[in-house]
Amino acid sequence: MPASAGDGTALIFSVNNQPQQVLKRSANDGGVTSDVTSTTTLADYLRLHQQLPGTKTMCREGMCGACVVTVTSQNPATGQMESRAVNSCMVPIKACQDWQIETVEGIGNRRDGYHPVQARLAHMNGTQCGYCSPGMVMSMYSLLKSNGKVSPEEVEQAMDGNLCRCTGYRPILDAFKTFDKDADDKTKRLVADIEETAGCHGRSGGSCQPTVACAGCPRAAALTSAKDDWRLPTTLQQALSDLSNMTVGDKSVRLVAGNTSMGVLDKYDAPSDGYISLLKIPELRAIKRPANGSNCRIIHDAPRAVFGAAVTLSELIEELKLLSKTAGYRHCAEMVKHLQLVANTPVRNAGTWAGNLMIKYQAQGVPVRRLPAAHGSQGQAQDRRGKEAGRNFCGKNVRDQHEKQDHRLHEPASNRREKICVQVLQDHPAAISAHAYVNAAFVLPFDPATAKITERPTLLFGGISGTFVHAVATERYLTGRCLAEQATLKGALATLLDEVRPDPDPEMADVAYRRTLASNLLYKVILHTLGDRVPAHLRSGGQDLTRSLVRGTQEFDTDKTLWPVNKAVPKLEAQIQTSGEAEYVDDQPELPGELHGYYVLTKVANAKLGAIDASAAMAVKGVRAFFTAKDFIGSNEYYSLSEFLPAFGIDSTKMTLEEVFARDTVRFCGQPVGLVVADTQAIARTAAALVRVEYLQVAKPVISIKEALKTQPEGRQQSTFVPANVTTGDAEAAMKGAPHRASGEWEMGSQYHFYMETQSVRVVPCEDGQLNVYCAAQGMRDVADRVSDAVNIPTNKINCELRRIGGGYGGKTTNPLPIASAAALAAVKLNKPVRIVLDIETNISMCSGRVPYLISYEVGFDDSGKILALKMHLIGDQGYSNSILSFAELAEAISMTKNVYNADNWLVTPGTVYTNQPLFTACRAPGSTNAIAAIEMVMNRVAHQLDKDPWEVRLANFALPTDAVPTPLGTEQDSKVFKMLIDEMFDKGEINKRKAEIEVFNQANRWRKRSLALVPMRYPVKQVSKMMALISVYDKDGTVALSHGGVEMGQGLNTKVAQVVARELGIPLDQISVKPNSSLVNPNGFVTGGSIGSEMCCMAARSACQQLLERLKPFRAAEGEPERPWLQVVQMASLMGGANLTAHSIQPPAPGEYAVLGLTAAEVELDVLTGEYRFNRVDLYEDAGQALSPWVDIGQVEGAFAFGMGLFLTEQHRLDPQTGQRLTNRAWNYYPPTHKDMPRDFRVKLLKNNKNDIGIFNSKATGEPATCMSSVCLMALQQAVAAARRDGGHKDWITFNCPGTVEAAQTACQTSAELLVLS
Ligand SMILES: Cc1cc2nc3c(=O)[nH]c(=O)nc-3n(C[C@H](O)[C@H](O)[C@H](O)COP(=O)(O)OP(=O)(O)OC[C@H]3O[C@@H](n4cnc5c(N)ncnc54)[C@H](O)[C@@H]3O)c2cc1C
Ligand code: FES
Ligand code: FES
Repeated sequence: MPASAGDGTALIFSVNNQPQQVLKRSANDGGVTSDVTSTTTLADYLRLHQQLPGTKTMCREGMCGACVVTVTSQNPATGQMESRAVNSCMVPIKACQDWQIETVEGIGNRRDGYHPVQARLAHMNGTQCGYCSPGMVMSMYSLLKSNGKVSPEEVEQAMDGNLCRCTGYRPILDAFKTFDKDADDKTKRLVADIEETAGCHGRSGGSCQPTVACAGCPRAAALTSAKDDWRLPTTLQQALSDLSNMTVGDKSVRLVAGNTSMGVLDKYDAPSDGYISLLKIPELRAIKRPANGSNCRIIHDAPRAVFGAAVTLSELIEELKLLSKTAGYRHCAEMVKHLQLVANTPVRNAGTWAGNLMIKYQAQGVPVRRLPAAHGSQGQAQDRRGKEAGRNFCGKNVRDQHEKQDHRLHEPASNRREKICVQVLQDHPAAISAHAYVNAAFVLPFDPATAKITERPTLLFGGISGTFVHAVATERYLTGRCLAEQATLKGALATLLDEVRPDPDPEMADVAYRRTLASNLLYKVILHTLGDRVPAHLRSGGQDLTRSLVRGTQEFDTDKTLWPVNKAVPKLEAQIQTSGEAEYVDDQPELPGELHGYYVLTKVANAKLGAIDASAAMAVKGVRAFFTAKDFIGSNEYYSLSEFLPAFGIDSTKMTLEEVFARDTVRFCGQPVGLVVADTQAIARTAAALVRVEYLQVAKPVISIKEALKTQPEGRQQSTFVPANVTTGDAEAAMKGAPHRASGEWEMGSQYHFYMETQSVRVVPCEDGQLNVYCAAQGMRDVADRVSDAVNIPTNKINCELRRIGGGYGGKTTNPLPIASAAALAAVKLNKPVRIVLDIETNISMCSGRVPYLISYEVGFDDSGKILALKMHLIGDQGYSNSILSFAELAEAISMTKNVYNADNWLVTPGTVYTNQPLFTACRAPGSTNAIAAIEMVMNRVAHQLDKDPWEVRLANFALPTDAVPTPLGTEQDSKVFKMLIDEMFDKGEINKRKAEIEVFNQANRWRKRSLALVPMRYPVKQVSKMMALISVYDKDGTVALSHGGVEMGQGLNTKVAQVVARELGIPLDQISVKPNSSLVNPNGFVTGGSIGSEMCCMAARSACQQLLERLKPFRAAEGEPERPWLQVVQMASLMGGANLTAHSIQPPAPGEYAVLGLTAAEVELDVLTGEYRFNRVDLYEDAGQALSPWVDIGQVEGAFAFGMGLFLTEQHRLDPQTGQRLTNRAWNYYPPTHKDMPRDFRVKLLKNNKNDIGIFNSKATGEPATCMSSVCLMALQQAVAAARRDGGHKDWITFNCPGTVEAAQTACQTSAELLVLS
């Protein structure tokens, strides 16, 4: 353990066993750029000051977990050393006194050997882009370190603070569950093999040896600290005296406990004048057990349980768990359940209960939990003069935290509470790491004999408004009444609805929904309290929707004769990803003098740009420049992906030029107007906030398709920009003759890509006027072209190079181009390296996402559900203008509406509108996902109208090779494969049996509904791309290096190419090294996307291999002689024959198009009262041909499906109607799926025995298709909602838009107060 700080030392701690020192600044030293301040975070210290980039940052607010490290420190109350996972992005470096910090580099690395956690994650397919992997590893490592032996339940709980956008979580959880203390022999053998292969240095949770200096652990040079006032009192008395001394005049002083409120409230706030850390005060960290609490592990006896104010939420949970086993404290179990839903594990490990309460007083809108108040727990506070004050947590007596310091929470025993119902309920937009829409805590003193409320109950609500806490009138109403009477319920609900008046807030759920939810929560607790007194079919309404552990199966075929192709191998870079050794753009060390750019974005969406005044920003120390459109050397304007304009035959006059910086017109809120360049990102950010932008002629923005149609009615017609359509037969005439008809509209929103690595670029000026460009983009060529235009430098002097990106999903096709241009402009003008890494707020605000759609349809059908005529119009929101990508997307969408169906008498047309939003861009399976969802929704609509099983309607519409019109399932082979898929799904998935069970379940449960939906898919893959590969063989040892034109973004491209090259050259996979992509090797290539990047690169590599083999041929043994070893052939060819052992090739022209077929069944369970749902099981079958790399392909399929689950269920943008601002621009309020949102049982199968004649090694693409089947989740949910509606007497169809959020599901059920009954 590090020694305490001496006189000249402000701070001492260790990182990976290396002592770190931060020295006090002497009075006369000058400014040093490496100074740390009270707001320097541990994450920045590690990344910037210690060059330990394995620890990543993304959200900087405790939501993503990319920054997790392990901290071991002494608890001042117990004297014990304790280890835990914490989010380093929220830890002030000055809070780290005496801490032992471990990072991903420290626990295992190439030199010292990998840690088992790193090895198992890598070898069990748990990484894709790898950006989340270090955080995942450290969460798991922390669990092992703190717990020793773990259970699968603990593993899942520990991973609740880590987001992964690529994998769908299943393989990550599987890898970590191998640490289960009760793992079976098979698992033990598997992990032993893995650890041997990976050269692990320890078993199951060992940490660094203190004497060993790890390769990833530099010994720290002493840094100096800024002269800000940071106090670290070790007694309560000292803290109070510090507080008293420091709060003079208008000085701001901040008490710092876990500092996690930074993530909620004040991430970028100006620093305070002084800080008082509460972490070293024994009184505040102490937990006192009640005298009779024999189970408690801690400390002194006390008349009641007492928790010091700096007790973390995790510690509180652990203690309450123990307490709940003690008489008088049983109710604590309910508190535990509730507290486990607060934030996530790393946040709870640092965040304290007192901090939690205090932020409620600071930000009234934050729906902080109300549990202590409900329980009648007492708090105790002292003001700075040491005067004590008690409080009950509902009062307003301690709002000013500068005046008073919480110091204890008293939890009294209560035998009475053994007889009352304590329940805490909340409704979340996502299963974890999302704050509740509404939460509530209830204490109902209830006499089971009479069912009466014996005394005044406590009904508390959060998330309603800044002031509403107690439902006073309802409490009064219920007192003394019989809970089992319908009249009581009716009266209580009416009273509650009268007093609950939610504040409107565009960032939060709808007012009506929050109001209904409050009353439904009360109804739930009443059902729960009454238990068996209510009829069986109502009881599920009183139960929580729980989630079992994630599990799954993965089935695929492998043909050993093809190995290493078709062999399930770990991804090539998996191990360096899990150890933090894989380098991403922002991990590159800073060069001397390197500068940072930060954007100034527009604050309105529809205006003319007036004057821009950057004088205040320029006056900030460390600011070097401010650039706007006027400063361009080359061109501020450009077309994205302009090389495709001629290929698509697009008339460029129909397109508006995009701009790096807005020049005259503001087109959307969040549009860049300029870039501040400064010594650090923090300085640039502070300065950017000071730039004043004048807006003229500000008008209300148009932010939705429906609004746009009011002024652009032509959007209802066929778009002239996108001429594609589906026209078969005579839809008009057939419609008239159809016995049944239905029509409607359906909306699908946008989706943020949520790549864990935000947009990142570095531009470094170098010799001869060249620019080295490192840009996290999906295509080098477009970056080079745009940079060249921006700074007027020919493309042969733009050197783009890229190893990998931390997720792309289409979001790094067009979005990086203006960012690279801006960085290049700054770099050239200042002749300095310039780095721009967007924070999440800037990223979401300025970068575009998936195209939103409004789909209108009219369908005519017969009694069997067969569609006789269909008219469908898909209106795509282009953003502020036309773009090449929206053109391509809409054209794709139109043709994909056919999916697997007979399209006789169809008229499907695209329409386009413009809104004040960025130009929307490609997003995983663009257009196709929307189109398939659209036609599947029509199928559900038809089924609903005929009261038929939706699958029967689908079957009635399946295309046959014999159909009159050209059909999607055009070949006999496609039809055969489809039949196989269906037969197998119905057999192994027991579809009919499960449907029958669901029917029974739904009849037996009024407030729970299940449903099973099936969605088929035919996804045409067009082999259109231009990829190159360069392969060099080294004659010294026969090893091979290669570079290809694709961008590795987690899809396993490098692995697949290496497998193909190894097979072609006949050498082992480990002899191949994949080098970064560069604009020298692949100068004129295409962007990596459309699922085909991997196979096109494989084709290019195979072609290069064939050139090499041809050159080596003369040096092979003659026929009949024994074969010469590879190295001998290579050396003979090179050294004796002078052969060129480097080959460069483009992929040969590909035959054209093939289809990926698939079928998915999803079973959902819906809590009708709250709208929460859980996917009990998903079976996904996909025809991947003969998979090139089965583990990689399984990962792609699972990940693609999970990505789509976000689109269809949880991800929703909310925009300010006045300014057009995206309010959901943080991980705090935009919700990609977490592992708790994943199907509980996910069975994935790559179809066997179906070779693809035109795919490389008979394979098929896997990156995107499964996203198209994820609409099955929405279909299932829609069916479950329909079942709930039927019970409520609503037999009509209700449009269920995408995303089907918890709020949407609950609202669609239309459960009015009259339906809440007790019998
Ligand atoms: C990602 C994320 C998700 C979250 N989700 C939820 C959620 O679902 N539900 C929920 O209720 N909360 C949620 N929170 C809030 C979280 O519970 C609080 O951030 C945490 O409890 C604050 O504790 P802290 O010790 O970190 O406080 P700090 O950040 O250190 O302090 C917070 C405030 O309280 C003051 N303060 C701290 N200790 C004392 C004291 N002893 N006396 C007086 N003032 C004090 C500080 O000066 C500061 O103003 C979430 C937070 C994050 C980051
Ligand atoms: S960067 Fe720390 S949690 Fe996201
Ligand atoms: S692998 Fe998890 S975010 Fe990419």
